[in-house]
Amino acid sequence: MKAAMLRSIRASCRASSTSHFLRRAFSSESHPERKVAVLGAAGGIGQPLALLMKLNPLVSRLAVYDIAGTPGVAADISHINTRSEVSGYAGEEQLRHALEGADIVIIPAGVPRKPGMTRDDLFNINAGIVKSLCTAIAKYCPNALVNMISNPVNSTVPIAAEIFKKAGTYDEKRLFGVTTLDVVRARTFYAGKANVPVEGVIVPVVGGHAGITILPLFSQATPQANLSDEQIIALTKRTQDGGTEVVEAKAGKGSATLSMAYAGAIFADACLKGLNGVPDVVECSYVQSSITELPFFASKVRLGKNGVEEVLELGNLSDFEKQGLENLKPELKASIEKGIKFANQS
Ligand code: NAD
Ligand code: LMR
Repeated sequence: MKAAMLRSIRASCRASSTSHFLRRAFSSESHPERKVAVLGAAGGIGQPLALLMKLNPLVSRLAVYDIAGTPGVAADISHINTRSEVSGYAGEEQLRHALEGADIVIIPAGVPRKPGMTRDDLFNINAGIVKSLCTAIAKYCPNALVNMISNPVNSTVPIAAEIFKKAGTYDEKRLFGVTTLDVVRARTFYAGKANVPVEGVIVPVVGGHAGITILPLFSQATPQANLSDEQIIALTKRTQDGGTEVVEAKAGKGSATLSMAYAGAIFADACLKGLNGVPDVVECSYVQSSITELPFFASKVRLGKNGVEEVLELGNLSDFEKQGLENLKPELKASIEKGIKFANQS
């Protein structure tokens, strides 16, 4: 009985991504040299994300950059006895050194929402921040994979694409909007409702990253559960409003940071695995896409040595999801156009 219980605890630890992170952090397997830069690394997402990247054995150099505060973050995490060497960079004059040689640049730089705001309300400040950081990326590490976290993702990714096009460095395979938190939420909420162990749950989330543009495909969830239409509608709404749920709970002190750091670390890890040639690495991400009429769209993406290897089709949708897809298109289109216009005007 006791042995069976121990076996089951070990099995559930093996399946849990969190313990997987920790176990891998101290593994002695050898991996290629990879540099990851986190821009906005002194912030609410940036600090725990930098910590999680320090725990990732696929990283050999970790650069943490912010307008201020990064020497402290770097000194702190550099004492952790894992593979990567950590360096901190603060202020625009040091941005170049943070970026040079980077294989992956993760961008959580920018202001978060307060209650009552939409992600689009962040556009005026964050668009300029993203623009200046992407201008530097085009100059100092044009071949890096860019993981865009800064909101509104539906617009900041098109802004980045335009900035890279102007610089002549754009490669659609290397630019990603990070929508992994939507997937993390959909998996958690679905497991709760379906009463199944969360570790084995898979739910694709497509569209974009704001309100109704977030479209979880529960009809494709595994394991399948016998949920009613009302339950699916409620799960969809909760996934779409997940960010707002946290913003309201934090009551003016920002938006999701810890769960976002976790999601950002999962996505960066998938990019690193792809770069290293691990086969069949698939995550949802908001990328340049032709699977709908919209030029950017989140869906399952196969990651490889050059970034995006394949943007996967949507697969079969339920009638409810088909309607959700039609409903999201005008808002997503407008957000994309807003980003493109900003990048070309300024
Ligand atoms: P925060 O205010 O705690 O941290 C942001 C950090 O960015 C700060 O340390 C700030 O100094 C830094 N920064 C500002 N301008 C910069 C610049 N030009 N260069 C480098 N760093 C700069 O905010 P947060 O909670 O970490 O959120 C950051 C962003 O991530 C927000 O836009 C938020 O909406 C977004 N976000 C996205 C997702 C997602 O799923 N994609 C989830 C959560 C939050
Ligand atoms: C989230 O989904 O948590 C983020 O986009 C932050 C926000 O403003 O909701």
